[in-house]
Parts: sequence; C-alpha cells; structure tokens
Amino acid sequence: MLYIGNFKMDIPTENYIAELENIDKCGEELWLALPYPYLSKYAQNLERAGIVMGAQNVTSAVVKESTGEVSAEMLLDVGCAFTLVGHSERRKDKGETYGRIVEKCQQALAKGLNVVLCVGESREDYENGNTSRVLEKQLREVLTTLKEINYNNFIIAYEPIWAIGTGLIPSIDEIEVVVRHIKSMTEKWAKSELRVLYGGSLKANNAKLLKSADGVDGFLIGGACKKVDELQKIIKA
Ligand code: 13P
Repeated sequence: MLYIGNFKMDIPTENYIAELENIDKCGEELWLALPYPYLSKYAQNLERAGIVMGAQNVTSAVVKESTGEVSAEMLLDVGCAFTLVGHSERRKDKGETYGRIVEKCQQALAKGLNVVLCVGESREDYENGNTSRVLEKQLREVLTTLKEINYNNFIIAYEPIWAIGTGLIPSIDEIEVVVRHIKSMTEKWAKSELRVLYGGSLKANNAKLLKSADGVDGFLIGGACKKVDELQKIIKA
C-alpha cells in the first residue's frame, strides 16, 4: 500500500518531523507532501526515515520570468520525488483549469517527477449520479493529451470532494466501482493500469474498512496525517 500525507497549509513542526522519523511503516510506502517552505528544511529527515518527500503543487509556467512560481526542476533540486496536481482545493479556488492541469502533469513527468493527479466529483454530481461522467471528463482531458509520458510515474488519487474533511465516506461498493472505472479508463487512454488511491476523511477508525476496498492501491490522507499516532494506526489497521 502507498500512503501519502497531504499537509496542506499547516506548519510541520520539528517535533512532528522527529516523531514521524520513528514511525513504523510496516513495510509500506509512505510519502509526504509538504508546503514549499518546509521542503528543504526537512528533506534530510525524511530521507533518513525512508519517507518520500513531495510538493502539493507545481507550476505550469515554462519561462523563467514567472515570479512566484515553483518549477519541477526546483522541486527535484530540493529532493522532491513527486507532486500533487489538480487537488480539488486548487481546482476550485486557484483557477486550476483542465489545460493548466495537463501542462503541469506534462512538465513534471517530463522532468522525472512522479505525479499524483487528484480527481473527484462534487456533492451535487454525486447526488445526481454523475460521478462516472465527471471522472471520465477529468481523466480523458489529461490522459488523451499527455505525450511521451512514463506512466510508471503517474498515480491517480480519487478524492470525492464531499468526503474531504467532512467525516463522510462513500460505501466500499461505491469506491470499488469508481476505482474499477478509473483503472479501465487508464487502460484505454494510457495503455497501462495506473495505481489508484482513495482520499477523503480516512481516519484511524475507518482505515480497516477502507482498506478492505478491492483495487485500492493506497490512500491520500489530509487531516489524519498531521498526527503521527493517528497515521501510525492507519498504517497498522
Ligand atoms: P482529509 O483526509 O482531511 O479528508 O483530506 C483529504 C485530502 O484532501 C487529501 O488530499
């Protein structure tokens, strides 16, 4: 299983990182997406602990005259191995259009960064039975446009927007249906079966249940990654 923590806009303290260095990964993969200012600061700690470091975003800009942007080269230079792209919090508030998401994926993958592409439907789309249509649009736009890409470095995270930070989760059946659908789309458009993660209100108390979902290759964890004991329980569940 692959566990990816998304620290969002919280501050990772030195105490947190010290505790994290002692986590028992139980032989599983643990990745952590930190806010930009902390990447350099904690790169060595994470490397020592065998935790893969990544960013929560990457620029789509190609020219150096792009004030305030952070490129894939910079992320690699400070020790990142991956970046999230297209998190719903960025699609919603930060003008992250389909075109921009494709450009981000293209550039990051071309430079050798792993990409975790986030997809997921809104509560309204879920309630109206539009989940598969929404996911199909989100994936088709990217997978049919990317060129000369190593898909081994590409992971999809299914995060229903209505499940993020709400304590609500889809049923196991629903997750299994969606994950099967996503994998069939990746086979069709990327010609390979990509890893698919689930994200949204994963906690220590529902980890065992969520891990029982067939086809899920891991999890993208928000709130619960910020407490090492909770993260530990999730990994052990
Ligand atoms: P929560 O685990 O806090 O619901 O957040 C999920 C998420 O958005 C991870 O990217």
